[in-house]
Amino acid sequence: EKGGYDTFMEKEIFDQPDAVRDTLLGRTDEAGRLTLDEIRISEEDLKAIDRITIVACGTAAYAGMVAKYAIEHWTRIPVEVSLAHEFRYCDPIVSERTLVVSISQSGETMDTLMAVKHAKELGARTLSICNTHGATIPRESDAVLYTHAGPEIAVASTKAFLAQITACYILGLYLAQLRGGTYADDAAKVMGELQEMPAKIEEVLGHLERTREIARFMADTRSVLFLGRNVGYPIAMEGALKLKELAYIHAEGFAAGELKHGPIALIDAGQPVFIVVPGPDTPHGLHGKVVSNIQEIRARGARTLVIAEEGDEAVVPFADEVIRIPKSAPLLAPLLAIVPLQVFSLELSTAKGLDVDQPRNLAKSVTVE
Ligand code: BG6
Repeated sequence: EKGGYDTFMEKEIFDQPDAVRDTLLGRTDEAGRLTLDEIRISEEDLKAIDRITIVACGTAAYAGMVAKYAIEHWTRIPVEVSLAHEFRYCDPIVSERTLVVSISQSGETMDTLMAVKHAKELGARTLSICNTHGATIPRESDAVLYTHAGPEIAVASTKAFLAQITACYILGLYLAQLRGGTYADDAAKVMGELQEMPAKIEEVLGHLERTREIARFMADTRSVLFLGRNVGYPIAMEGALKLKELAYIHAEGFAAGELKHGPIALIDAGQPVFIVVPGPDTPHGLHGKVVSNIQEIRARGARTLVIAEEGDEAVVPFADEVIRIPKSAPLLAPLLAIVPLQVFSLELSTAKGLDVDQPRNLAKSVTVE
């Protein structure tokens, strides 16, 4: 069942190009327009949506954070991301014009289910992004957009995460197309860029030997920090979560811009820091700002482990290690940047002799509140 891999997690990491490919399958007509048959909310109701709230837990919530940047950019609809257990008990602002999007691999997470039920009671439209056909959360929701990652066995989520991000992109582009506006005409173009991502993920998977080596030498590390900006910020958080879950190492993800507001105090000699660098074409000069961050922490002794696009030479003088990912549209880059971080945690966990597929204290699906 592990398809020749030592662990389910490793197999599932290598399944990721297919998880994205299969989730994209059949979403467009011959003219390249998105058609989402599964969404059983009327076009009229979808056009009237004036707020989106994403509810999820764990890795799924980080997929939601990536989605916020993309959906807001393409649709101009405000998107809020709420941890499901916080949403349920915080008197949320919800109306019949709110679309509450739940993201859940299992479709059974109790916290997320309770949030969806609460949203329905408050009159919201509910849409479930789910990897498990017929699970409770999609059944409780008005509409469902299935991810096609296939069964995910390892407790730590990998391929479901990439499929969730992909489904969120599809939803955002569909809403953009439906509602008209600046990005309506671009939806087909972005779908085209999205179709190229599985091959790029394959490329990343083919060049991981150095990442594995770095991990094997870090089995005694006590703490690792992760920095990212824009869509790289949730990727930093997810990279940190993977390390906590799999290798039981203290790890924290930060927004790179927040560094000087506190976390930089943590930097001392030898502190390993992963930096997810936005591509040089990212708007607002974010690439240069993150390169300055790398320079700042390196000057304070950090060991800088940099994830950067091919051809981005600006990072080289300040990087102890550079892990390359192919060029992509800035909003789609999370599908590439997370892969080396998943493999880093997998390898470190293995080097420590831990159970990769069944980390201590965790369950694949938490069906209690
Ligand atoms: C956690 C799992 O308990 O639940 C995580 O260990 C997962 O891996 C989270 O991301 C949410 O699960 P689901 O099934 O709702 O996506």
